Amino acid sequence: MSGFSDRIIAWQRTHGRHDLPWQNTRDPYAIWVSEIMLQQTQVSAVIPYYQRFMLRFPDIATLAIAEQIEVLQLWSGLGYYSRARNLHASAQKLMLESGGKFPPSADTIAQLPGIGRSTAAAIAAFSFGHKGAILDGNVRRVLCRCFGVSGWAGQPAVEKELWTLATSLLPPDNIEAYTQGLMDLGASLCSRSKPACSQCPLQQLCIAHRDNLTATLPTSKPRKALPERAITLLLLIDGNQILLEQRPPTGIWGGLWSLPEVDGAFNVQQAARLRYGQETELLPTMPAFTHTFTHFRLHITPQPLLVTRRLSPAEETLTLWLDREDAIQAALPTPVRSLINRLR
Ligand code: ADE
Ligand code: SF4
Repeated sequence: MSGFSDRIIAWQRTHGRHDLPWQNTRDPYAIWVSEIMLQQTQVSAVIPYYQRFMLRFPDIATLAIAEQIEVLQLWSGLGYYSRARNLHASAQKLMLESGGKFPPSADTIAQLPGIGRSTAAAIAAFSFGHKGAILDGNVRRVLCRCFGVSGWAGQPAVEKELWTLATSLLPPDNIEAYTQGLMDLGASLCSRSKPACSQCPLQQLCIAHRDNLTATLPTSKPRKALPERAITLLLLIDGNQILLEQRPPTGIWGGLWSLPEVDGAFNVQQAARLRYGQETELLPTMPAFTHTFTHFRLHITPQPLLVTRRLSPAEETLTLWLDREDAIQAALPTPVRSLINRLR
């Protein structure tokens, strides 16, 4: 689809930035340094670091003979310091193996430590005008949305589909403007949470815009299945009173008042008798529900029980009989409060 690249290139010409310190050069070293710094860091944060770095290490040879600690000092604050160590090691390797000549193609650039296929293609495009697809996180987002690609990009099949798509979209020429425009569009208009579709040159092509899918594309990484636990909460009812138990100080709902809890597998009447000293009759069950915590899912079955005789508890438990009106005022977790509310 030629409309895609035409639109990106035209947008880059009129709306893109053309005066960044690493633009308007064909020096692969300068472009390399900028692309490494830009890998996990925004343009505005990179600029001052880039300028200091290039003043001190203007070429591969100067970088190669520096002490690593000085390279790291100039990187200090940018984060992801393996980037600096890889850059330094690569400069030394290039001095040894090719007399400091920068690799001449994306494939050979990609063999340097810390450089993936996308970064290599970007460096080759900006340095040599070589045509090659890029696919960093921002570009992935643009492609998934514009072409309605679903599925998490961490899956090899999705990743492969995106590379094929990115390659098929390459323009016949102007690879520099296209590459820069695609990156900039992904970093600005087509943002993760609030894409500015009304200003976007791809709006008329974009499937996510057309079908209102910008919130669901790109598909995010599947959440790991949370561990699950099943419990029964006992609603021990004696007239207008209900039995509350204080939870241990740590763990879920730590220190709050709650309903007596038994593990899902236990016999509830036996637990009511042995643990809480209550002779009971079963009342009709209430609907079970699930409460999701950050680290696990709790399936809760509420079991109302009519107390027929109060015995003395066999175990030390911190329990309290309260009138229902007072119980709902206690320091209760929300799902427990709504259960007690539902009883009335
Ligand atoms: N991210 C990676 N490379 C970039 C570049 N050249 N311009 C803007 N953002 C980038
Ligand atoms: Fe992204 Fe919106 Fe442009 Fe589609 S139209 S590429 S969702 S900014």
